[in-house]
Order: sequence, then C-alpha cells, then structure tokens
Amino acid sequence: MSAGPASPGLRRLKQLMHRGTEFLGSDFAIMGGAMSWISERHLVSAISNAGGFGVIACGAMGPELLDTEIVETAKRATRPFGVNLITMHPQLSELIDVCARRGVTHVVLAGGLPPGGAIERIKDNGAKLTAFAPALALAKKLMRSGVDALVIEGMEAGGHIGPVSTSVLAQEILPVVAKEIPVFVAGGIGRGEAIAAYLEMGAVGVQLGTRFVCATECIAHANFKKAFIRASAREAILSVQIDPRLPVIPVRALKNQEMTNFAAKQREVAGRLDAGDIEMGEAQLQIEHYWAGALKRAVIDGDIESGSVMAGQSVGMVKREEAVAEIIAELVAEAAAALESRG
Ligand SMILES: Cc1cc2nc3c(=O)[nH]c(=O)nc-3n(C[C@H](O)[C@H](O)[C@H](O)COP(=O)(O)O)c2cc1C
Repeated sequence: MSAGPASPGLRRLKQLMHRGTEFLGSDFAIMGGAMSWISERHLVSAISNAGGFGVIACGAMGPELLDTEIVETAKRATRPFGVNLITMHPQLSELIDVCARRGVTHVVLAGGLPPGGAIERIKDNGAKLTAFAPALALAKKLMRSGVDALVIEGMEAGGHIGPVSTSVLAQEILPVVAKEIPVFVAGGIGRGEAIAAYLEMGAVGVQLGTRFVCATECIAHANFKKAFIRASAREAILSVQIDPRLPVIPVRALKNQEMTNFAAKQREVAGRLDAGDIEMGEAQLQIEHYWAGALKRAVIDGDIESGSVMAGQSVGMVKREEAVAEIIAELVAEAAAALESRG
C-alpha cells in the first residue's frame, strides 16, 4: 500500500512523531546516528535538509577540529542539527565549550554515564541534551540527572554496542519512561515498518546509522560503501574479547582481517598491562584509539581488509547508493503504509 502526501498513514506517522519532531525541530523524528569519520558536514547537513536530524560525530576530534566542523555544517544546513560527544574524551569540557560558543542547539552524549558537571554545563549553555540509556535503571538515573531525551540502542547496531537487543530494551524501557521523557530507538532499523512498530510502542522517534552510510552525500570511500551493499546481516559480527582482565566494549563490524588484528592488539595491550607498563585506564584508551584508527583506514582510505568496517545488522537492507532524501522518503513511505494498513 502506498502512502500519499496527505494519507491517513502519513498523518498518523506525524502524530506519533510529534514529540520527537518538536524536540528536534525537524520534519521527521529520524536521527542520523553519529558515526565517527562519516557523520561530518556533508552527510549531517544532507540529513537535516532532507527533513531528518543530522548529528556530527565528534569522535576523537579535538576542540579546533570540532569547531571547524560545526561552522562548516552550519554553512550547509538550513535546518537544526546536533553534535555527539563521547563522555570518555579527555577534552570533554573544552568540547562542551566549543558547542556553547557555536550555539549548538542539541548535544548527544555517548559512551557511558556523563562525568559530574557535564550535564549541568551543557544545559546551562541552553542546549537540549540527549543521552544513551543502555538499561532501565540508567534511563531513570539519567532522567533524574536532568537529561532531556534518551536514545536506547540495541546490540544489532553498528559500532560500539551494549549486550542487549533493541527489541528487549524497547520492551523494558519504553512502557516505563516514554510518557515522561522523549525516547528514540536505535539499532537494527532498516525499514519503515520497524520505525512504525517502535513508535507504536511509545518511542517518539528513531536513530539510524548503517542505513545512511551509502548515501550519495556520505564521504565514505567507495570500497566502504561497496562492502555495505554486498554484505548480509550475518556478516556484521561482534568483536571478541581475548583477555578477561581487559574488558573491551564489543564492536559490530563486517567480518574481515581486521577482526583478527584486533585480537592481536588486545594481546599486546594485555601484555603491557601485565608487565606494569600501563594502567587499566590507559589500556582501555589504547583500545579505543586503535578502533578510531582502524575505522579511519576503512572509511577514508578504503582499506576494507585491515581497516574496521563497522556496520549494523541492518546492513543487509542496504541495497544501493542513493541520496539521503530518497532514503528518508522510503523510510517515511514504508512507515506510513504500515500504519495505514493496521488501520
Ligand atoms: C560506522 C559506524 C560508526 C559509529 N560511530 C559512532 C560514534 O562515533 N558515536 C556514537 O555515539 N555512535 C556511533 N555509531 C552508532 C550510530 O550512531 C547509531 O546509533 C547506530 O548506527 C544505530 O544502529 P544501526 O547501525 O543499526 O542503524 C556508529 C555506527 C556505525 C555503523
């Protein structure tokens, strides 16, 4: 069934997304999840201009690079966009200052509970703050700390992930908190039918990463995009933890030589930990830097064998390179049609 511009399905979709679109200032509550090296000025502005909500991935960038990226994105974007900061970044405080100076309206904090003061400072600067809630208890804690919206991201997603699937997180968290705080669902969403389902469960919107990688506007190397177009869901596998003493956050990426290299890297870092050359914090930081480098090799240089091709299980639903506006239009049409067929 198709959903025309004024179809009942589209009207219902807009109703269900209303709190999300109010919060984001976009036409549709479809966030482009921040992806390091990928979510930069071109993709982010394209998503926002097409009616979604683009988010810059700060990743390992320092304050100066982030500043430039915000300015360049603002030049291209006619609609609001956000900035994703990683809580364990050693210069988090300076990055928050950059966002404030540039008048960033939406900040997303990823990578664990925000350190003391970060939430207050972001909010005092006037930005709306979204944080990742990997469990119900943490969702409640984040709400009490004053965050304005939550993302719940399941283990189907690409990149660094938690242990629980999107469908289970949605059932555990949405019925309890969705009335009190806007919740966006992420992980494994490849088509509009899934968007419709999570909205009906109480989400105000969704966040997709994998589905936007093969956008025409995305600067990822042609090899990276080809790997996405070829891959099926089962090829987006999890990294393995080699040493129980060295907890590493699992990463979902396409199966390749790099997954083997990562095991060797863990052995090397664990060895240095044993020898007393480094502390646990430093060991974990080294692992994170390793990932940033490996992802850059694949995304920017196109080395999809020894670089990390981070991808979610929805990669099987990425079929071709197409413009962001087409991707969003397809997702919206599928979601609207699904809602209309349910009556
Ligand atoms: C290549 C890649 C890089 C990512 N990098 C980041 C990141 O730097 N920060 C972050 O919060 N999430 C990151 N993510 C997660 C996305 O923001 C998003 O939540 C996720 O892709 C949603 O799941 P999906 O891939 O199933 O659509 C990344 C995902 C991918 C695929």
